[in-house]
Amino acid sequence: MENYNHVFHDLETKIIELVENSKSLEELTEIKNKYLSKKGEFSQLMSKIREAQDKKAFGEAFNNSRKNIEEAYTNKFNKLNEEKLNAQLKAEEIDISLPGNNYFRGSENPFYKVKKEIEDIFISMGYTVETGPEVDLDKYVFELLNIPKDHPARDMQDTLYIDNNLLLRSHTSSIQAHVMEEAHGKPIKIICPGKTYRRDDDDMTHSHQFAQVEGLVIDKNITLGDLKGTLELFAKKMFSKDAKVRFRSSYFPFTEPSVEVDVSCFACHGKGCPTCKGTGWIEILGAGMVHPNVLKMSGYDPNVYSGFAFGVGIERVAMLRYGIDDIRRFYQSDIRFIEEFNKKVED
Ligand code: DAH
Repeated sequence: MENYNHVFHDLETKIIELVENSKSLEELTEIKNKYLSKKGEFSQLMSKIREAQDKKAFGEAFNNSRKNIEEAYTNKFNKLNEEKLNAQLKAEEIDISLPGNNYFRGSENPFYKVKKEIEDIFISMGYTVETGPEVDLDKYVFELLNIPKDHPARDMQDTLYIDNNLLLRSHTSSIQAHVMEEAHGKPIKIICPGKTYRRDDDDMTHSHQFAQVEGLVIDKNITLGDLKGTLELFAKKMFSKDAKVRFRSSYFPFTEPSVEVDVSCFACHGKGCPTCKGTGWIEILGAGMVHPNVLKMSGYDPNVYSGFAFGVGIERVAMLRYGIDDIRRFYQSDIRFIEEFNKKVED
């Protein structure tokens, strides 16, 4: 049997050397294309079989040689592939000792916190939440609330007029008038949060725009006692478990009798401290029994129906609750300020 190894030997040695010295998978592919593809140099050697006398021996020698090359190729391919993978893993390695991305978590403005809390407290007592227009007719802001055109009480709420008859509402009491009109004599139990406007000079406790929550209950047999119980529950939930309320007689055109409502100081629990200016009491809101004229004007018979109403400043409650000294802070979007609010004064 003839030996044909010599036919392949030189090229085989050369290719194996090239394969072993190749530095990348790309280089390896180039070698494969150049020498081992169908038309590659090595494959072409097979055509010499035509001249060979012992074709079987020639074929065997070719196959041997090809096996050697393929073995070298596969080894190198695996090696380079592994190196590439390791390099990639190293490049993508996550360094868990690095500090993380610092996401900034915003806080809710204490104004909205308190607004929501007030709403929740009254919803839990069966109230529904109503809103009304911020720009409203004189009729709803004043007339239907027993404040006729020349009434001196208008001066206390000097406001911003659009024209003779249209104005920015100076209190949320205007929503009472809308709701009563729409209720057509039926019982009412609502709170109405909303923005209000006055021609005020801005200072630590005044702002030309602020917010109130109005409350209105109309039904048969509603008494001042109901008002007191309701406001005491509100004060307990909002300020302090042991809160008490006290009524001082006052005047509002739309209520009779009218009261200023004080809550026992939640900072000193009534002993007297700077928060309550030594008195043990803090004024929080105005309230009263709905005036018979108001009931009549909106279609309720004052001999059958009675009701109570109250109006509370949201910023005022938030200032007391969180010990905030200046109303303007609510509107200035100072993040350092807004982030402060997770504590009550009593904590
Ligand atoms: N509207 C009053 C104000 O803005 C607050 C107020 C007092 C509302 C007594 C009421 C009330 O409903 O009964 O000063």
